[in-house]
Amino acid sequence: MARAPRILHLLLALCFLSSSSVVVASASGAADAFVGCLAAAGVPPRLLQTPASPSYDALLRSSVRNLRYVAPGIPRPLAIVAATEPAHAQAAVSCGRRHGVLVRARSGGHDYEGLSYASLDPRERFAVLDLAAFREVRVDAARAEAWAGSGATLGEVYYAVGAASRALAFPAGVCPTVGVGGHLSGGGFGTLMRRYGLAADNVLDAVLVDADGRLLNRTTMGEDLFWAIRGGGGESFGVVLSWKLRLVPVPETVTVFTVRRSRNQSATELITKWQEIAPALPRDLILRVVVQSRHAQFEALFLGRCSRLLDHMRAHFPDLGVSRADCEELSWIQSTVYFAFYSSSKPVELLLDRIGETGRYVKAKSDYVQDPIPRHAWESTWSWLEKPEAGLLILDPYGGRMASISPSATPFPHRKGNLYNLQYYSFWFENGMAALEKRMSWVRGLYREMEPYVSKNPRTGYVNYRDLDLGTNELEGNVTSYAKARIWGEKYFRGNFERLAAVKAMVDPDDFFRNEQSIPPLPAAKGWSSI
Ligand code: FDA
Repeated sequence: MARAPRILHLLLALCFLSSSSVVVASASGAADAFVGCLAAAGVPPRLLQTPASPSYDALLRSSVRNLRYVAPGIPRPLAIVAATEPAHAQAAVSCGRRHGVLVRARSGGHDYEGLSYASLDPRERFAVLDLAAFREVRVDAARAEAWAGSGATLGEVYYAVGAASRALAFPAGVCPTVGVGGHLSGGGFGTLMRRYGLAADNVLDAVLVDADGRLLNRTTMGEDLFWAIRGGGGESFGVVLSWKLRLVPVPETVTVFTVRRSRNQSATELITKWQEIAPALPRDLILRVVVQSRHAQFEALFLGRCSRLLDHMRAHFPDLGVSRADCEELSWIQSTVYFAFYSSSKPVELLLDRIGETGRYVKAKSDYVQDPIPRHAWESTWSWLEKPEAGLLILDPYGGRMASISPSATPFPHRKGNLYNLQYYSFWFENGMAALEKRMSWVRGLYREMEPYVSKNPRTGYVNYRDLDLGTNELEGNVTSYAKARIWGEKYFRGNFERLAAVKAMVDPDDFFRNEQSIPPLPAAKGWSSI
């Protein structure tokens, strides 16, 4: 499977189709035993869908964000368990273990490589544990805390926090339909990260179903497992049902702006300068850039009023030419609508729309930039961005709070020495191989071209921007190979990878929770000193 991403996933799945009739026969036996076990454990039949059920397909697709992974030939789950209570999730894990059915947890379904609902291995028997019903958000404004179910979307969390207080916020990603479960599992950054760090940095407790089907909280799971689930990537350690969040103070009025500069309005020079300016700005200010076609779009959130924001811009980045007319003063909750929909006049209730935009095919990759990319390299990037099949680049500056947290405080290691995260994002709507190949080659080609200018040894990436091109797991016996997984693992987690594997060996030595990029158990011989 290691080279699977290089030959298109679809082709791979189709290659295996000839042997799949045998697999289907035994898989249906496993499905029956699994479903029978769940029924015996008290999971109501209406919450169990198999491919024979009329609403299986609709449920499978209900939160899919990447059509590449529901294409014909892609292996599908032998059952979907739409759990509504912790006991259902516990039963899914226990029955899965008993009957050899792996369980893939799905919260918001946004995984870029579809790992919450699709497997690339046609021989794998797996079920999806859908957590969409675990979406309650309870805010305690007096204590500045909240509990959020994994199946809640970021929009639902933001809405609940905003409804409870104008002076509180939660620091997480920009897209409101992203699920809490996967997002917090991989870190989670957005417009408040320079002031407050990652979403995962603001998790105080969690409720998790472990590989033995037990329900654990922070005290009963222990600090090693609690460390691992806050950034070590989804799926590997158990199923997190809910998270206790630290809410953070924000002023009642914040300021946003978006200014767009085209190539012939010095966009190249501005991006080149931005690279050193943005990570060094005061931590109350984030200035990100989206580069697309012939434009660079500079988007800012400032935790304060326009007049002070303009002072900062004049002092640090006068060339961008931001003026009072560009500013919009609003509440933090309105700012989340602004960044999601590029309009502050839209109702905040839009944050509650769990569906948003679907029907896309997606491929993304990411890099960390440690030294400014030279102007000439940006100049040649336009030739990529102006191609008809081009996607876009998203540049998220770090620094501020991000740089003041130890790289080993959580599994997310990209704290120090990185100017910004660079995301390559391509999406398209056309079905078929021609479109697929063109778009995938665009992303991969530009990524290749950027190699001289980004982090090295290893070339790192962000686990929540899942990219199977970095490597996929291989089994040794019935356990994921640690040696093979290191190839992709150290790119996401650097030195924290070994500790993640040590935690995995401790909590899931049989490797029940696994997917194409799950953390493998650390082989016993290697040991780990601090566990
Ligand atoms: P999904 O349900 O697909 O799960 C992702 C992974 O986590 C899977 O492996 C899954 O099995 C596992 N998992 C899910 N729920 C789990 C649970 N409860 N317990 C254990 N494992 C679980 N990121 C970012 O940092 N900032 C941003 O601004 C954005 N913006 C953004 C926009 C769009 C349109 C997309 C598609 C993605 C992003 N992301 C992002 C990336 C996003 O953070 C990442 O894809 C998350 O993993 C998505 O979480 P979901 O729960 O939606 O995914």
